[in-house]
Amino acid sequence: MPYAAVTGWGKATPERVLTNHDLESMVNTTDEWIMSRTGIRERHIVGPNDSTTSLAAAAGREALARAGRTASEIDLIVVGTATPDDFLVSQACLVQAELGGNAGAFDVGAACAGFVTAFSVGSQFINSGVYKRALVIGVDTLTRYVDYTDRSTCVLFGDGAGAVVIEATDEPRGLLSTVLGADGAGHKHLYVPGWGGLVPESADLFPEYRPYLQMNGKEVFRFAVQVMGDAAVEAVEKWGSPSTTSPCLSRTRPTSASSMPPLAASTCLVSGSGSTSTAMAIRLRRPYPSPSARRRSLARSKKA
Ligand SMILES: CC(C)(COP(=O)(O)OP(=O)(O)OC[C@H]1O[C@@H](n2cnc3c(N)ncnc32)[C@H](O)[C@@H]1OP(=O)(O)O)[C@@H](O)C(=O)NCCC(=O)NCCS
Repeated sequence: MPYAAVTGWGKATPERVLTNHDLESMVNTTDEWIMSRTGIRERHIVGPNDSTTSLAAAAGREALARAGRTASEIDLIVVGTATPDDFLVSQACLVQAELGGNAGAFDVGAACAGFVTAFSVGSQFINSGVYKRALVIGVDTLTRYVDYTDRSTCVLFGDGAGAVVIEATDEPRGLLSTVLGADGAGHKHLYVPGWGGLVPESADLFPEYRPYLQMNGKEVFRFAVQVMGDAAVEAVEKWGSPSTTSPCLSRTRPTSASSMPPLAASTCLVSGSGSTSTAMAIRLRRPYPSPSARRRSLARSKKA
């Protein structure tokens, strides 16, 4: 079975930055409160010229350049997002239109677990031998749905995109195991009323209509900490690799992950939201071109 190795990565954030001190002048909060509970000092926020497409394409372009690939060499684009620019054309198609090529393109919806879930979906196409190369992107512009008078949510969210190129290899590296989980009943703890198919024709007819993200922070925290820790342990155990290096986590607060068995030279990516969790064991050894090759490739892509 071919493995799906990470051969390039990229990221993009909007220029505009909103600091905790900025938020102090907008809602009744303090830098100390935000830092002590979330560790967040500042977040990047989309401006009028940014979009989910522009961030995703920028991250994708960087990942392709690092991998030394062009868009026409990619077989598949998978985008994990909860905030696509359009609901009919997939976000992945909008990205493909920016980057070029004619790869298959579709989205995966798993909210905060979007990137990790999209990564695992893209990898299955490589593991099955159907495709050789995929571009996987996680992107969100959730601040468009944040109420900047609600201190319980506006301090948390920011915008950005991350991307990886994954390629078939016979070496046992890249994605090693995946654990997906969901508890759909948690939908009521993190949602946007009237978003999607339930959007009312006229907000006047629905006094309760608020196109802003609503969150029961305590419940989301309780669920995410538990399931992300459990999923991470399961992903590492599933791979069953011997150990030398401590795993690191893509999210920082699943405290039960401290009980995870370590995994050799590898990482456990884990992500969760109010109702989903995804964890994967991945090995990033030798995934990238040398630093000088990367510099040359990035310089070439900037010129193009
Ligand atoms: C949001 C979160 C940091 C709130 O922390 P918390 O300790 O649970 O805070 P609570 O909601 O219990 O609120 C405690 C008090 O702080 C107040 N508070 C809430 N937000 C505040 C803010 N930004 N600044 C100051 N006070 C705030 C509340 O009003 C409450 O006051 P009260 O006791 O007088 O009613 C925490 O619940 C969390 O991290 N949840 C997970 C959220 C998440 O990760 N969402 C995305 C996942 S996809």
